[in-house]
Amino acid sequence: MKLLFLGPPGAGKGTQAISVCKKYSLVHIATGDIFRKEFSEKSKLGVLAKSYMDKGDLVPNDITIKMVKKRLSQDDCVNGFVLDGFPRDVSQAESLEKICAIDYVVEIHCPDEQIVERLEGRLVCKCGATYNIVTNSPKVCGICDECGDRLYQRDDDKSEAIRKRLEIYHGTTEPLIAFYKLKGKYIMINGMQSIDGVFNSIVSELSRKF
Ligand code: AP5
Ligand code: MG
Repeated sequence: MKLLFLGPPGAGKGTQAISVCKKYSLVHIATGDIFRKEFSEKSKLGVLAKSYMDKGDLVPNDITIKMVKKRLSQDDCVNGFVLDGFPRDVSQAESLEKICAIDYVVEIHCPDEQIVERLEGRLVCKCGATYNIVTNSPKVCGICDECGDRLYQRDDDKSEAIRKRLEIYHGTTEPLIAFYKLKGKYIMINGMQSIDGVFNSIVSELSRKF
């Protein structure tokens, strides 16, 4: 399975990608997570990416596309993957087509009002696990269930950056829905269900396709 997860910030792409990858033994490739890891290692790429991310802007395409191309060329990708957060515009989608063929694009559909609530309550861990103080809290307050590390809030989960990310999503990323619909590769999932409900919907759609 070669899948793309598409949706506005906070729709649940990362949350679902982790569970879907576990179920089908796929590799989770999240461009935002790669940039955050690079920044935690203080690499030149990470520091540059962070200057865009904190404002809610997209990292320039030349940097992002090169990074994804390199990641997809690694051996672990041959058995399938979920791309989470890439492509984010038509130019990235066209570049991806030159790298490999995607089977399906899963849009997790979620209205803007819900996004703000989810992002303001989100807590994340360096290991990639994601929680929410309202809907998905860790067993021990502020501590990751998976690795025991301390949870933190993302720097771009502030109201001004959230507003900008939503604006970019609707203006630049959403047109990808029409792009993939035309190719007959589009699956829409109602993101306004519980986390388990969204997961079951994705699995049920995938079981019909594969
Ligand atoms: P990225 O990390 O991809 O952020 P994003 O797209 O804004 O999406 P999020 O990670 O914020 O949300 P999500 O959909 O993964 O939701 P989550 O599962 O966490 O990108 C960050 C930045 O990096 C970009 O702004 C850009 O600068 C740069 N970047 C990345 N890719 C790029 C690219 N291709 N090109 C250029 N720049 C790029 O869930 C959110 C919260 O809701 C959590 O608290 C979760 O527990 C909760 N939740 C999830 N599902 C449910 C549910 N069903 N019900 C209730 N709560 C739920
Ligand atoms: Mg995410």
